[in-house]
Amino acid sequence: MNTTRLTSMLRTKRLPLIGGTLVLLAAILGLWLKPGTAAPTGAPAQAALKGTGDETWGANYFPNVKLTDQDGKQHRFFDDLLKGKVVSINFVFTSCASSCSLETARLAEVRQLLGDRVGKDVFFYSISIDPLTDTPAELKKYAAKFGADLPGWRFLTGKEADITLIRRKLGMYDDNETDAKNLTDHVLHTMLGNQATGRWMKGSPYENPAITASQLGSWLHNYKYAAPKETSFENAPTYVRNMSDGEKLYRHRCASCHTIDGNRTVARRIGPDLENVSKRRQQEWLTRWLKEPDRMLAEKDPTAMAMYNQYNKLAMPNLRLDDKDIANLLAFINEESALPIDARRVAVQ
Ligand code: HEC
Repeated sequence: MNTTRLTSMLRTKRLPLIGGTLVLLAAILGLWLKPGTAAPTGAPAQAALKGTGDETWGANYFPNVKLTDQDGKQHRFFDDLLKGKVVSINFVFTSCASSCSLETARLAEVRQLLGDRVGKDVFFYSISIDPLTDTPAELKKYAAKFGADLPGWRFLTGKEADITLIRRKLGMYDDNETDAKNLTDHVLHTMLGNQATGRWMKGSPYENPAITASQLGSWLHNYKYAAPKETSFENAPTYVRNMSDGEKLYRHRCASCHTIDGNRTVARRIGPDLENVSKRRQQEWLTRWLKEPDRMLAEKDPTAMAMYNQYNKLAMPNLRLDDKDIANLLAFINEESALPIDARRVAVQ
């Protein structure tokens, strides 16, 4: 068996890795896909993307272990889930009180941008690393909290040893750490890949969802999908707006679950709208909540518990913010709340 791991390939740059600058350029040029845009072109490219299983990272590399999804259906990891497919794979556990839920919320945004292509030519897999707790029923409940219980997105559980093997093969298990650390501090990356072409890249949970959507929807398909018409270079933005520290933090760590629009614009909501939250809540309560929401929930703070029950029992993650982060975030939320609704800012103009 070929035991060379993907990570060492990534480190030695033998896989085609493309740098952050290019990512940014692609985003600026608008090379990301909007739902329903563009049709596949070129039959030869399509054939080349099918995958036979004999590739370098093929049936000899990935284990063909059995996993069970949130509907109780069984799948073979290589044959059914990977072979010939473009995939996003991340690892979760449903009782996680820190950033894993942020990662799932981000992926839900990516899923929305890709629209009905997910389940057709892009597949999402969130694999539990706490399989004894995470039964299919638990995973189904968890997926529903993010609006992610969908055909093209499988939440999978299986035997712990099999899942550890998958993590090792994807370079997402740290052999220098104990099993306990590999659970609570597990590698927070999403592996994005095309099994047939052998192109794999690591996605960050803090990445702009439009960029991840572009990587999954276009790059990993060898660009066989044309960019939408309106993405002429002439239409590229002429300036890049400077964001305050508070805004940057908000966009990276909060915007997947929250809005600041007084519930006026976006339909998909995971957590409460934050418009005027400083007026609604006492300062002391608010700053403590941002610092240690997990402890406040554990102490059964009545305000926190009421919200928790209202928002599908999804716990707001502890994002390890310090006092400065919290001050910056609240300053941004206050500023934004004071703007007229049509002057509120967006991440990409
Ligand atoms: C994974 C989703 C998620 C992320 C990420 C997240 N939150 Fe939350 N947040 C929630 C949920 C859900 C609640 C409701 C309370 C609960 O269920 O624990 C909440 C509650 C809140 C509240 C209380 C709102 C009120 O009406 O009193 C504030 C303030 C808040 N979040 C701010 C933030 C900020 C700032 C960030 C980023 C640093 C952030 N949240 C990141 C899910 C999230």
